[in-house]
Amino acid sequence: MAGKKDYNLFDKDTQAFIYNMQTNAVQRMLDFDYVAGRKTPSVAAIVNPTGNDGFQKFFFGPKEILVPVYKSLKNAANKHKNVDVMINFASFRSAAASTEEAFAIPQLRTVVIIAEGVPERRMRELNVKAKQLNKVIIGPATVGGIVPGAFKIGNTGGTIENIMDSKLHRPGSVGFVSKSGGLSNEAYNIVSQNTDGLYEGIAIGGDRFPGTTLLDHLLRYEKNPDIKMLVCLGEVGGSDEYTIVDALKKKMITKPLVMWVTGTCSKAFKTEVQFGHAGAKAGSESETADAKNTALKAAGAVVPNSFDDYGEKIAIVYKDLVKKKIIIPRPEPPAVKMPMDYNAAVKAKLVRKPANFISTISDDRGEELIYGNMPISEVFKKDIGVGGVLSILWFKRLLPNYATKFIEMAIMVTADHGPAVSGAHNTIVATRAGKDLISSLVSGMLTIGPRFGGAIDGAAQMFSEAYDAGKTPQQFVDDMKAKGANIQGIGHLIKSIHNPDMRVTIISSYAKKHFKSTPLLDYAREVEKITTSKRDNLILNVDGCIGICFVDLLRSELTKQEADEYIKMGALNGLFVLGRSIGLIGHYLDQKRLKQGLYRHPWDDIAYMLPEKEK
Ligand code: ACO
Ligand code: LMR
Repeated sequence: MAGKKDYNLFDKDTQAFIYNMQTNAVQRMLDFDYVAGRKTPSVAAIVNPTGNDGFQKFFFGPKEILVPVYKSLKNAANKHKNVDVMINFASFRSAAASTEEAFAIPQLRTVVIIAEGVPERRMRELNVKAKQLNKVIIGPATVGGIVPGAFKIGNTGGTIENIMDSKLHRPGSVGFVSKSGGLSNEAYNIVSQNTDGLYEGIAIGGDRFPGTTLLDHLLRYEKNPDIKMLVCLGEVGGSDEYTIVDALKKKMITKPLVMWVTGTCSKAFKTEVQFGHAGAKAGSESETADAKNTALKAAGAVVPNSFDDYGEKIAIVYKDLVKKKIIIPRPEPPAVKMPMDYNAAVKAKLVRKPANFISTISDDRGEELIYGNMPISEVFKKDIGVGGVLSILWFKRLLPNYATKFIEMAIMVTADHGPAVSGAHNTIVATRAGKDLISSLVSGMLTIGPRFGGAIDGAAQMFSEAYDAGKTPQQFVDDMKAKGANIQGIGHLIKSIHNPDMRVTIISSYAKKHFKSTPLLDYAREVEKITTSKRDNLILNVDGCIGICFVDLLRSELTKQEADEYIKMGALNGLFVLGRSIGLIGHYLDQKRLKQGLYRHPWDDIAYMLPEKEK
């Protein structure tokens, strides 16, 4: 990338593509970016060859950002010209092909291959090609690496807590390289405890043919004036470490180098031992860890006696550099606090938040749905019926049988009253106009009000108020007349004393027979005597009868105050809503069955009353 020094693969402005949908790795990189104080996220885009173009949501510190996702690497590169790194999370089967794809894009300079077990023949081809094209490969079989305070590859360094503990959020003076990713995390910790911290750390990966060698990175560090000392971890097997011996001898490496080759224990085994990595196997005496450690020491590296005093040796070299003023320790920058994820904070009981609302009638969080305090299985075992369920969900208690039966009767008698009433009429029109079930149903429901079905609450309220105020039925009727208001629950368009409403008879006789007492119903009957003496259709109608009986019911089962509150809330019209929805759905299905076309009034059915033209 223009402006970037040769020896620097990554800096504070480096942006990468992540090849494959590795959301955890991306989030870890972005978390690092935030604590490192980066202005731009280190991930410019995700390349997801098996997905679609789009965006993926991530946190950048406390904020949420959208990271673009591309199906094609070429498209991603066209859109993000500054990106020069690709972190390749492709599997070992497709890592070589996708790396070649990246090689074909001139702007991409560094490719990190995470997969383990990429075919060795393919890796050798890629390594040759990389040299020709001046590309850098880190890996395969690696977690990657890190430039503290600037850029982190994938999952390197582990959790954000590890990153902070090993001071990887800000630069130090040590250049580190190893084969193993796991051991490099341990080494970062050792470096942070014994020096001013890491400047850069790379794990080249444990396969036999890594894209870059330990020496490649040490030579980069040698050139970088910000790196003052080198720390390296080699591994039993191969001869890579001898190239370092040579470089030391030829003074290509002049900065102090603390180095340990792991695997000295392999001599304890009688037969040749294959350690975790493909390359970690001593083929000859010279490939053993001991031989390499001896040669390195002879060439001038600081070699500890074992991994145990690695840190000690690092500390000695560091202190010497401080004494010589080659390293001038810098004050620790203020640490940026990483916001905690909300779910993690809740789990750790670190935060609390008032609920947006509370709900007390049912609970579906446990094994079984609970209505009130009754598990759904119990609802059926006790066979409490629709009335029982309604009584629990509306009144928060299971009312006695006579009451739940009454609720069911109210639903049954209000289910339908023919196609001419306003609710059914609207539902029928909406259905014939091609509307769906819910629209047609709602269209009918919306007519429920004082002139149709919605008088249950009004009746309950008016009659109980008058009764409680000690008004005689006559006083009540007179007062309403004086106010010019209709008594809710009185009057019907068709029904009259000569054409009584059987629904009212059924409801009122049940109440008389089963209720503990019916003072309000008795009062309403007296009112009805007065109103019907004026006009024969001013009967106690079905809404009125249900509402008034319900007051009698609630007042004998609940406290008076509680019963009055439900009436004030407007709960009782719900009974008509519930009942009538059965009928309205019936009308919808009926019209669908009849399959008639659009609704259209014949002109004969409509009276047109336009203003008469002036003569
Ligand atoms: N209380 C007192 N007087 C009434 C009442 C009443 N509820 N209803 C009608 N009247 C009187 C009117 O004041 C009017 O008197 P007037 O001739 O002296 O002026 C006369 O009766 C006719 O009034 P309309 O409004 O024409 O009555 P109509 O019979 O057309 O209306 C209706 C019937 C809408 C039900 C009406 O009685 C009413 O509004 N009742 C109260 C609300 C109610 O209970 N709605 C539920 C209806 S039933 C159901 O939906 C299942
Ligand atoms: C009904 O139950 O729908 C009817 O009693 C109402 C009406 O307006 O006739």
